[in-house]
Amino acid sequence: MKSRWETGSEFDWSENLLKPEVALAVWPKPLELFASGRAAVLSLLRLLSQGAPRPRLHVPSFFCMEVATCFKAVADIVWYRDLPTEPVPDFASLQARPGEWVLAVNFFGLRTGSAWQDWCQRHDDVRLIEDHTHDPLSDWAMQSTAPYAFASLRKTLPLPDGAILWSPRQLPLPPPLGPVSLGAYYKLSAMILKRAYLQGAGIAKEDFRTLQVQGEEMLGQADDGAASDFTRAVWRHLPVLEFRSRRQANVQLLLASLAGRINSFCQPLFSSWSRGAAPFQAILLCASPEIREQLRQHLIQHHVYAAVHWRQGDGGLCSEDPAALDLSRRILTVPADHRYSSEDVARVAQLLTAFFSPGARPLPSPAPDPDRGLV
Ligand SMILES: Cc1ncc(COP(=O)(O)O)c(C=O)c1O
Repeated sequence: MKSRWETGSEFDWSENLLKPEVALAVWPKPLELFASGRAAVLSLLRLLSQGAPRPRLHVPSFFCMEVATCFKAVADIVWYRDLPTEPVPDFASLQARPGEWVLAVNFFGLRTGSAWQDWCQRHDDVRLIEDHTHDPLSDWAMQSTAPYAFASLRKTLPLPDGAILWSPRQLPLPPPLGPVSLGAYYKLSAMILKRAYLQGAGIAKEDFRTLQVQGEEMLGQADDGAASDFTRAVWRHLPVLEFRSRRQANVQLLLASLAGRINSFCQPLFSSWSRGAAPFQAILLCASPEIREQLRQHLIQHHVYAAVHWRQGDGGLCSEDPAALDLSRRILTVPADHRYSSEDVARVAQLLTAFFSPGARPLPSPAPDPDRGLV
């Protein structure tokens, strides 16, 4: 069978991922395992807001609006400005009162957490929840001093569902009360089928894509659910440390291969990071929404599925922060995670440089303003 080449989109599954001898990560203890990050946060908000008026949750203006919409079901959302182009949040825009909740996000796994630790010390009466989804094993996550922290696992690990919730301060945690979501099993089926597809089996892409989409939709509704038995059985046995260092090396390689080779129409959002951090993927910032869309389509044509983290302003919930909106229209996540070899990464780099090589295609005007938020 001839294997198929593509990068990005959802993880595939094979039992070969589970090896007898792997260096296992030391995860925080104790923790609760939920179906999703949403389920973890919603359960926490419900546990600690019992009998109280609707809680207020402060959310960064640059965030996943689908997830924020779920939070809105149980809390009033208040936006504060936090952008991945800046090293720290705009704390002046964060006006949290005692007893209110604040969501602090480690965007793309790039932050160190010291700014939040300082802020937290000065606001001990605020309930901080750190979101470590983009790098669950960062130094920040492992050395956190926040009241609560969580990480959705399926964004960095080949799992159909799952999120860990822990309290670095050893505060009581809510257990998952809801049932396992059937969505996890749709997603697991999709992951198994995707592996067969990648290996060249005669499986139609729509077959696993439909299962992925339906599974994800169901999972999004599991608002206090437990992780599936599958995830519960395997998550600690995945070589997560190997995955993490591979991811770090791949992002580094991709960014190094692009240095000086993509032009002012598009720049990496970052090209270095602190010790103890492992970036989520390679993130690009295009000079305009039109260039982002052209680039995304170019990559799709060549089987590279680049995601957008995150869209807003398309009619759903919106932070109304002009800087966050602007970023959300120009940002692109290029896959460079643990699944890929150096050759795969080189191929993606080549596709990107080909797109931006002079005369390759007419890029939409107007020409980019060099000061427009590129870092
Ligand atoms: C940074 C971040 N936090 C939280 C979530 C929510 O996790 P889940 O989809 O497991 O509910 C996501 C998912 O998109 C995310 O990307």
